[in-house]
Amino acid sequence: MTGFMGTGKTEVGKILSQKLGFVLIDADSEIEREQKTTITDIFNRLGEDAFRDMESAMIKRLSVLKKAVLSTGGGAVLRAENMDALKKDWIIVCLEATPETILRRTSISKNRPLLEVADPLQKIRELYDFRKPYYEKADIIINTDDVGPLQVAEEIIKAVKNR
Ligand code: S3P
Repeated sequence: MTGFMGTGKTEVGKILSQKLGFVLIDADSEIEREQKTTITDIFNRLGEDAFRDMESAMIKRLSVLKKAVLSTGGGAVLRAENMDALKKDWIIVCLEATPETILRRTSISKNRPLLEVADPLQKIRELYDFRKPYYEKADIIINTDDVGPLQVAEEIIKAVKNR
């Protein structure tokens, strides 16, 4: 699963993996486990580029898994090497939502270093505009604005079956 921060990858991923009987893996959580620290700390101490290198290495490593739902961080789509690693054997599902929905969902937690700015809505709009063509490379795109995670998971299963 790909998609901007706050589009529901974590919640949907939990339900989807249960429904499919697949293992759920979150690339960011795996990085945090490996580095023994938080994504925010990695951004603050080492910078975004270092995080992106860790993210690419992790995605390549996880891409060999089978029968899994893999949730990737919102910026994982930006590097072609990440998408190339996933395109071969995975169905790439992108979750989308409006900047307003994303702001509402992400303002609850403080673990999004890229949104720790004076005007997070403006930042979300800028990042989303830039990333849109990357998200559109997914095999399936599902809007999550007014839809709960259960319904999104069901829509994904239906869309995968209809491919
Ligand atoms: C990022 C999204 C985050 C995390 C990091 C960078 C991004 O993951 O990888 O903070 O660039 O959009 P989530 O999409 O799971 O919040």
